[in-house]
Amino acid sequence: MPSISPKAVADAVAQALSAISGASTGDDLKAVRSAFVADASPIAALNAQLKDIPADEKADAGKLVGSARAEINQAFAAREAEILAGEEHGRLLAESVDVTAVASRRAVGARHPLNLLMEEMSNIFVGMGWEVAEGPELENEWFNFDALNFDEDHPARAMQDTFFVEPAERHLVMRTHTSPVQVRTLLGRELPVYVVAPGRVYRTDELDATHTPVFHQMEGIAIDKGLTMAHLKGTLEHLARAMFGQGAKIRLRPNYFPFTEPSAELDIWHPTFRGGARWIEWGGCGMVNPNVLRAAGIDPDEYQGFAFGMGIERTLMFRNDVADMHDMVEGDIRFSQQFGMVI
Ligand code: DAH
Repeated sequence: MPSISPKAVADAVAQALSAISGASTGDDLKAVRSAFVADASPIAALNAQLKDIPADEKADAGKLVGSARAEINQAFAAREAEILAGEEHGRLLAESVDVTAVASRRAVGARHPLNLLMEEMSNIFVGMGWEVAEGPELENEWFNFDALNFDEDHPARAMQDTFFVEPAERHLVMRTHTSPVQVRTLLGRELPVYVVAPGRVYRTDELDATHTPVFHQMEGIAIDKGLTMAHLKGTLEHLARAMFGQGAKIRLRPNYFPFTEPSAELDIWHPTFRGGARWIEWGGCGMVNPNVLRAAGIDPDEYQGFAFGMGIERTLMFRNDVADMHDMVEGDIRFSQQFGMVI
């Protein structure tokens, strides 16, 4: 008759306990269960032998094997509980959200300060009842020069260092100023007109601290009955104060432009300009030359008007103390960000 040796039971228990304590994952536990706890395990085999042992040994052997199984089952259950709790904890940690954390933000971009400035200036005119117009950047030579009273051999044509666009017989240029929008406006609208035209212009300048071959201007033209230089001055004064505050002043100095007569240079003064209160050259202006009115089919005896134009880059430079134009064209977002993330 077979018997069950206490040593065999103790060995089965020892093996099982060591395997159980060595398990560290749910998968380990599964393997341990089938090897040391379930039907194919040594302790299960010992248990199965109980039915074959002599009756007088059965009670003791039964107790021995029974308590061994209980010990193994308990240890297994305890380890299983530990491992499940650990895995649960890990899952919770992985899924946890720190509601106090600072959210990582995406930079949404900023509008370019030049665009913001053109919009701000346009809005000042819209506030006075003016309209905003646009013209093409690829322009007919006639609009850019001839209609604006530049003679065929006028030195300004060369002075303006124009990008002429091939083929030459089409007489196309990249517009050298926003003034051609004056004539387009007069041809395309009913009188009276009060229009500003901000936009991009081109000249064959090298990029340096104070020049860029692509830059921006804002043109203004007003044609009505009885407009005088006083209206021009009042309008520009309002612009200066709206942009720079009540302390701003303007001054007009005689100058020459083919499309205005008389013509003037526009200077602006403000006590807060960096480097001290001083006059800064801002743009050009004047009374629209009768020849320009005639080119647009308007009778200069009936209608008169004034026009002005200024550089936007230049305005941004002295308004915001920008020393180098490279910053305006290089597209580094850190430059735009200083003007606020206005979108
Ligand atoms: N078009 C001129 C320039 O680019 C600026 C200018 C001067 C515009 C006088 C005007 C004006 O409308 O009246 O230098």
